[in-house]
Amino acid sequence: QPKGHRNETDKTEQLKGFTVDNDGQKLTTNTGLHVAEDEHSLKAGVRGPTLMEDFHFREKMTHFDHERIPERIVHARGAGAHGYFQVYEPLAELTEAGFLQDPSKQTPVFVRFSTVAGSRGSADTVRDVRGFAVKFYTEEGNFDLVGNNMPVFFIQDAMKFPDFIHAVKPEPHNEIPQAQSAHDTFWDFVVQNTETAHMVMWAMSDRSLPRSYAMMEGFGVHTFRLINAEGKARFVKFHWKPVLGTHSLVWDEVQKLGGKDPDFNRRDLHDSIEAGRYPEWEFGLQVLEEEDEFKFDFDILDPTKIWPEELIPVRKVGKLTLNRNTDNFFAETEQIAFHPGHLVKGIDFSNDPLLQGRLFSYTDTQLSRLGGPNFNEIPINRPMCPVHNNQRDGMHRMTINRGPVAYHKNGIAGGAPHPTADGYKHYQEKVEGHVTRERSDSFKDHYSQAALFWNSMSDVEKQHIVSAFSFELGHVKDKAIRQAVIDMFANVSGELSAGIAANIGATPPAKADDKAREAAASPALSMMNTIKTPNG
Ligand code: HEM
Repeated sequence: QPKGHRNETDKTEQLKGFTVDNDGQKLTTNTGLHVAEDEHSLKAGVRGPTLMEDFHFREKMTHFDHERIPERIVHARGAGAHGYFQVYEPLAELTEAGFLQDPSKQTPVFVRFSTVAGSRGSADTVRDVRGFAVKFYTEEGNFDLVGNNMPVFFIQDAMKFPDFIHAVKPEPHNEIPQAQSAHDTFWDFVVQNTETAHMVMWAMSDRSLPRSYAMMEGFGVHTFRLINAEGKARFVKFHWKPVLGTHSLVWDEVQKLGGKDPDFNRRDLHDSIEAGRYPEWEFGLQVLEEEDEFKFDFDILDPTKIWPEELIPVRKVGKLTLNRNTDNFFAETEQIAFHPGHLVKGIDFSNDPLLQGRLFSYTDTQLSRLGGPNFNEIPINRPMCPVHNNQRDGMHRMTINRGPVAYHKNGIAGGAPHPTADGYKHYQEKVEGHVTRERSDSFKDHYSQAALFWNSMSDVEKQHIVSAFSFELGHVKDKAIRQAVIDMFANVSGELSAGIAANIGATPPAKADDKAREAAASPALSMMNTIKTPNG
């Protein structure tokens, strides 16, 4: 593609209607008045006080005083770009989602990559999970795939999310430390909540140091559902596979870049697109028949568990290309509002208790972050299809709805806008049981997949993981927490745990029985081998 080439998608056209260029224009106030001077405030005499009546000064300063909005409670630091998605072949057998049917159609997307823990001004190259959020502007409404660059999560239930984030963020009394995950509260949370084990293994691996956003995998993490036009549903996990392959920085590079170029990943994304080296990912699906739901020794609703790819292969079904930088970071990257509950026909959630809580949290936070209930009218959030309902008013309402009727059902407006039979319907899942806070027993298995992860690593990768744990724990002040981590990860691997203990001068793990771990992990694999999937 030539330098500066822009793919003219409909979304780009839509945004143009809101874009303003100042080239050659006269300076005005916000009410359109041409102004004669923009450097000196109005004063009573050459050496006198500033006058209240200087409306130009007041407007300029007032707007400045209110330029900041709250940063995201998590994933505050991000970088985004526009692009498009194209499916390889019609997926009608799996889903009726319109954007997954026609290989000739380009669906506009906006993607925002982020770190999780740092504030908006923090460095890109920290050891952290990366957010990978994709908004598809489909003809049937916006579909958001709000994922991460790791396939599992730290906790199993949304109830723990505020606690987890409080433990990850800088300590509240002094806002230290900001730069790394190495602190007492994080590791204390880990040992007190051992379902974190699997995700901590990913976080201590090279996966948390991506060399480029274009060299990162993405995962929807939770189990979702695909439903076809006949109403047949299957479970699915969503994947993004970078065309450039998955590559990481090494720890020494990360530390130097954090000082020399805190914008390293953001700059790379921007410069690659400007140079016409468009980042690309293939879209992948792991599909599981509903009747196979209980054939695993883990619950598919548990977000700390993967579906091993060698057992349920990832079928590559399409490609995402990012080809246009933002015109304005705030208007686009900062104001975009993702939500795992922004679905289209043919896609539905599962009862993953982490996902269920997310469905509440995103709109809730955006109501305060973006100032009221009308944030879907902000240009970057507007769908590509028309919006018609009876919602009215509220802060910053942009739409001018005509007519006297704002209710359903109505007779005066002929019933419009009316629900239609072909609209979104929630999957008619069968539910039964008693109201409870309990989960399946397998939610209590915190170590099998963490051990599988460790066992799948090469020697170099294992060394990096031991070094990462050693560096992070070396900064933990409380010796009891250090020891508890070493004892906890002996449940994953004695070799790992003993390696960390040796590096930081701690007591070797109390239980370092790798054989027992391997024995515990292998039945899971053999059991999963028996599962048949539509992918073959
Ligand atoms: C951002 C909540 C788990 C991926 C956010 C935000 C909230 C939130 C409140 C800020 C949204 C905004 O200000 O617009 C939660 C809760 C979770 C959870 C309550 C668990 C119960 C996850 C998981 C993933 C994830 C498991 C990955 C699969 C993201 C991403 C963003 C984000 C990528 C940034 C979106 C953007 O770029 O604007 N989350 N989250 N979150 N979350 Fe979660």
